[in-house]
Amino acid sequence: MTGVVRIAASVLGADFTRLGEQVGAAERGGADAIHVDVMDGRFVPEITIGPVIIEAVRRSTALPIDVHLMIVEPDRQLDRCVRSGATSLTVHVEAARHLHRVIQQIKDLGAKAAVALNPATPLVAVEPVVGELDMVLVMSVNPGYAGQRFIPAALPKIRQLREWIATRGLSLNVQVDGGINDSTAAQAVAAGANVLVAASAIFQGTGGIEASVPRLRQAALART
Ligand code: DX5
Ligand code: ZN
Repeated sequence: MTGVVRIAASVLGADFTRLGEQVGAAERGGADAIHVDVMDGRFVPEITIGPVIIEAVRRSTALPIDVHLMIVEPDRQLDRCVRSGATSLTVHVEAARHLHRVIQQIKDLGAKAAVALNPATPLVAVEPVVGELDMVLVMSVNPGYAGQRFIPAALPKIRQLREWIATRGLSLNVQVDGGINDSTAAQAVAAGANVLVAASAIFQGTGGIEASVPRLRQAALART
C-alpha cells in the first residue's frame, strides 16, 4: 500500500519519571499520536496506567491521544477516559460483551471508535460492526507487555481487512500494534496497515526518541 503512514508512539516504552519530556520528544520527531495502553490485570496479566496518566499526557501534548483499553467491561471507563483527554478509544472485541453498544457509546462521547483483535481472533469477529468504526487494530502480539516479538499471522489479517475496505468502500484506518520495528513496520505497511503503534522502537531504541520516529516512518515505507 502506498500513501501516508501514521505513527502512534506508545508511552508504555517511556521512562515515567520523564513522561512529559519524552512525549514532547516523540512529538518533535513527528509522531502523529500518543498511544496509551490501559491494562487491568484481568483482561491481560499486567496492570499499567489509567485516566490520571491520560490527563498528564493531555497536558504535555496537543497530539491526538489514542487510548487502547485492554480491560474487561470497557463500557465502564469510556466516559472517564474521554474526560481525561482521549481522542480515540479502542476496545477489544474479546472484552466487550455488547460490542455494538460500546461503539455507539464511544461515538456519543465524541471520540473516535476502534476495535482491537487479538492474534487468535479472526477478522470476521468485527464484520457486523466494521461500518461503524474509525479504525480496526490488528494486534501483532498478545496484548499485555511491550517488547514482544511480532507475530506474522497478523499480516494476512491486515491484507484481508484492506481488501474489505477496497471492495466494500469502507473508510477505516488499519492499525497494527506489537513488535513494530524498522523491519516489521515495512511488512505491516506492505500488507495494508496505515497506523503503526510502537513503544520499544521509539522510546528505547538507539539514537534517541526524536530521531527514532522519522527513522521508523522511513523504514515503514521501504519496499519489502
Ligand atoms: C501491547 C501494547 C502495545 C505495546 C507495544 O499489549 O498494546 O501498544 O506498548 O510495545 P512494543 O512496540 O514494544 O511491542
Ligand atoms: Zn497498545
